[in-house]
Amino acid sequence: MPIEFHAQSRTFHLHNRQMSYIFKVLPSGHLGQLYCGRAIHDRSSFDHLFEAVPRSMSVCYFDGDQSYSLEHIKQEYPTYGTGDMHLPALDAQMPDGSRLLDLRYQGHAIVPGKPAIPGLPATYTEDPAEAQTLTVDLADPLAGVTVTLSYTLFEQLPALARHAVIGYTGPGVLRLERALSFCLDLPDMDYEMVELAGAWARERHVVARPLAQGVQGVYSLRGCSSHHFNPFLALKRPHATEFEGQVLGFSLVYSGNFLAQADVDPYHVTRVTLGIHPQNFTWQLAAGGHFTTPEAVMVYSEAGLNGMSQTFHRLYRTRLARGPWRDKVRPILVNNWEATYFDFTEDKLLALARQARDLGIELFVLDDGWFTNRSDDHGGLGDWEINYHKLPDGLQGFGQKLHDMGLQFGLWIEPEMVNAGTRLWNEHPDWVLHQPGRRPQQGRYQYVLDYSNPDVVDWVFHRLVSVLDGAGVDYIKWDMNRSISDAYSCAVGPAGQGAVLHRYILGVYQLYSLLTERYPNILFESCAGGGARFDPGLLYYAPQCWTSDDTDAVERLKIQYGTSMAYPVSSMGAHVAAAPNHQLGRSTSLTMRANVAFFGAFGYELDLTALSQRGRELVARQVAFVKQYRQLLQFGTFWRLRSPFEGNETAWMTVSPDRSTALVGDYRVLQQANAGYRRLPLAGLDPDRLYQVTRLGSGAQPAGTPLTAYGDELMAAGLVTTGEDPAAEGDFVSRLYLLQPAEL
Ligand code: GLA
Repeated sequence: MPIEFHAQSRTFHLHNRQMSYIFKVLPSGHLGQLYCGRAIHDRSSFDHLFEAVPRSMSVCYFDGDQSYSLEHIKQEYPTYGTGDMHLPALDAQMPDGSRLLDLRYQGHAIVPGKPAIPGLPATYTEDPAEAQTLTVDLADPLAGVTVTLSYTLFEQLPALARHAVIGYTGPGVLRLERALSFCLDLPDMDYEMVELAGAWARERHVVARPLAQGVQGVYSLRGCSSHHFNPFLALKRPHATEFEGQVLGFSLVYSGNFLAQADVDPYHVTRVTLGIHPQNFTWQLAAGGHFTTPEAVMVYSEAGLNGMSQTFHRLYRTRLARGPWRDKVRPILVNNWEATYFDFTEDKLLALARQARDLGIELFVLDDGWFTNRSDDHGGLGDWEINYHKLPDGLQGFGQKLHDMGLQFGLWIEPEMVNAGTRLWNEHPDWVLHQPGRRPQQGRYQYVLDYSNPDVVDWVFHRLVSVLDGAGVDYIKWDMNRSISDAYSCAVGPAGQGAVLHRYILGVYQLYSLLTERYPNILFESCAGGGARFDPGLLYYAPQCWTSDDTDAVERLKIQYGTSMAYPVSSMGAHVAAAPNHQLGRSTSLTMRANVAFFGAFGYELDLTALSQRGRELVARQVAFVKQYRQLLQFGTFWRLRSPFEGNETAWMTVSPDRSTALVGDYRVLQQANAGYRRLPLAGLDPDRLYQVTRLGSGAQPAGTPLTAYGDELMAAGLVTTGEDPAAEGDFVSRLYLLQPAEL
């Protein structure tokens, strides 16, 4: 049983074969955190793990007891003002002006499986035996505040999902100003914090730093999870590597403003918190009202960062993503954006589509620019009326032509935005986020619709239905191309303004729910100017996401490596684009570009009609290769082998569940003169199996003589990668290796 309650010591032990998480009801009624880490034997009491040391200058909960101070007790959901002196999990103001909160245990329940969280994305079980859920009720009767903490431990995964429901019993109205999803007090600070940081076109770079006393963390105040930070952080022991050592990974299943931080106190206790960012967040609760936080997921690994990532990959791929596409290999697509930008006619698109079809590509994605007043990015968003000059037979006619060719039809939309001058803008000025009397600010020349207003979501839904019904669309790329400013809703009064940014995201989730329910077979890919909303929240609705607007193969090494910290390969949109690359002007070979993009939801984003004969041959072979190996590429166990953040080389691999087959991607950015020998230790193989290792050259075709070696040798001695005249290859070189069972 993963969750046990020991009544006498009032201790909860959440454990499976890989991890234990222990807390108890303390004498004061607070929940005290006792242990989080490797699975340990169950006992009727872990009271000896309760650390309480008399410290001078402390505020004491029980008169005269210098050792019992909430300031020093590791807690599960701390508040501020009644003894704890740190940044709290919860902060609210009562009608009498008080912010004092003191939450004490009332009761608990343990149920099989995992109840859904209404209106919010969350991990789930398909069979109740996959997990157990513990809910613990806390209350502060004087404040009228109740909190229900929910903990789900998965049976087969070292993963714990948590969220909180805050209730109010009155009188008057409670102003909830901080309602975090997750809080964990760890007994030491001997960690490095790993975060995913960046900016547009260089999202999710891996950054690590040792913890120090004080607050360190990441956040977004952009109304989306952002290019700049991701709702993720990991704490790794300083000596933990990609392969070994203890790591705790934390991830928030949310797509809006977030906070994720580690706060180290003077006694080296590390408080990890994740949740909605409290800035500009006020949620008013009247008597009987509830607020539900988003879910946060904690993963424990003893197999380094790869171990952590593999748990996130499995959980998010199979128990967060949903729908018929969840377990299916993804169609190979061509997207016309970098091929044509806004400058296209139907003839041009169909020529591209025909060429794509001839090369074996399966899905044609019509990107931005198919609707009226959209010859550049200054206008057109909001009305979603087909531009019949560009598409004389409409979307339906265009889709039909693609289907007749044997291609699936994909369509780009950006449903959260509006441009000035559109009908929507003129007819519904109040549906734009702005404060009356203050000029709202543009981002990419556009304004943000007020998705906190259900009428707006409803209108957009019906507008999109009238576009999509009958159009034969098989895939949708849902984009979102600016940060949110002027988050003021004309639909609610002063009391509702603090809720606008969160309600906005709830509106996005609502529209995703409506669309995915109406079109269950459409494959959704989320996007936000590339990867500004690559987060677990959207993975619940869209099983893949456009990883970055940066399609340069070298830059993609870092972006995809970093993204893989928390997200599965199947979720990462990865396309082969033109050379020179449109973002960087760098030229890399078609082979290098494909060898990077193979490890993702693969596609092309360039003018295929402009390829040379040789280029077309290579693309056809690449497409055939992906068709043969995409189950392995997208759903295998992914291992990071060499980090692009640590040197000139990057390597990663994916291994089939039975460990019989693997594909290794090996990349070198710059050529080196007179370089040394080089072996690449592989991972995740069956040590006792003999593999045939084939190097794949251009077009992913076998090159050179295959080698046979046992898995243990390939993992311990490594794969020899020198000796193939690398001098002839220059910069930006990649190699792909296919491992298959060998005959003895
Ligand atoms: C964003 C997306 C791109 C493309 C453009 C279209 O930047 O990330 O892939 O769809 O919008 O305007």
